[in-house]
Amino acid sequence: PSGHGVVVAIDGPSGSGKSSTSRGVAADLGLRYLDTGAQYRALTWWMIEHGVDVDDAAAIASASLWPRLESGTDPEAPTITVDGRRVDAEIRGQAVTDAVSRVAGVQTVRNRLIELQREYIRAALAEGPGVVAEGRDIAAVVWPVADTKIYLTADQAVRAARRGAENGGADLIKTQADLARRDAEDALTTRPLDAAPGAVVVDGTHLSLADVIARIVEIATEAVRS
Ligand code: DC
Repeated sequence: PSGHGVVVAIDGPSGSGKSSTSRGVAADLGLRYLDTGAQYRALTWWMIEHGVDVDDAAAIASASLWPRLESGTDPEAPTITVDGRRVDAEIRGQAVTDAVSRVAGVQTVRNRLIELQREYIRAALAEGPGVVAEGRDIAAVVWPVADTKIYLTADQAVRAARRGAENGGADLIKTQADLARRDAEDALTTRPLDAAPGAVVVDGTHLSLADVIARIVEIATEAVRS
């Protein structure tokens, strides 16, 4: 364990239910919640807003150093702010979703956000019981000494169905095609389809959200005891 606080890393591909799961685990365990995907999305939103060409890696790299990002880490009401503006709704839009893996694929962006994420984790450990951090590379890169490492996944068809439902019953074939494309793009940057060494794989294909949360809470509680 890192000091007296705990870090629970929850990684996994798009649509695996990571966000709802991570928030539920954090709320149950009284921990902060850090959504690292929201940070990549917020940076992407800012670039689109400022006319940065998201196909130009050099432009992305230099622009990534400008905006100030702040994550609100209450699991009941997480927030994301860029240069003082709340963009919680904007970052879920299609334009951001379509461009984010290109932005996330630029190493300068990753270096900056990984450093920011480590600051949030250090702050949570300094303040109290710790944090649930969700993303793609938390256990592998951001915080390899996490007390608990979870790799949360589900069959691609199930992930697509859940995403479609979230998007108000969007066309399933298209949603699955989008998800397959994002899996492939993300695979180029963070290998989201591989579990980190030492991670416990939780397959949510046949489990309810409540069951997945309970399972991870149990694993994290065990890890703290031992
Ligand atoms: O989890 P999400 O859908 O909000 O993630 C948005 C994008 O950010 C996705 O393309 C993967 C990328 N990402 C990343 O590269 N590393 C992280 N730690 C979190 C997200």
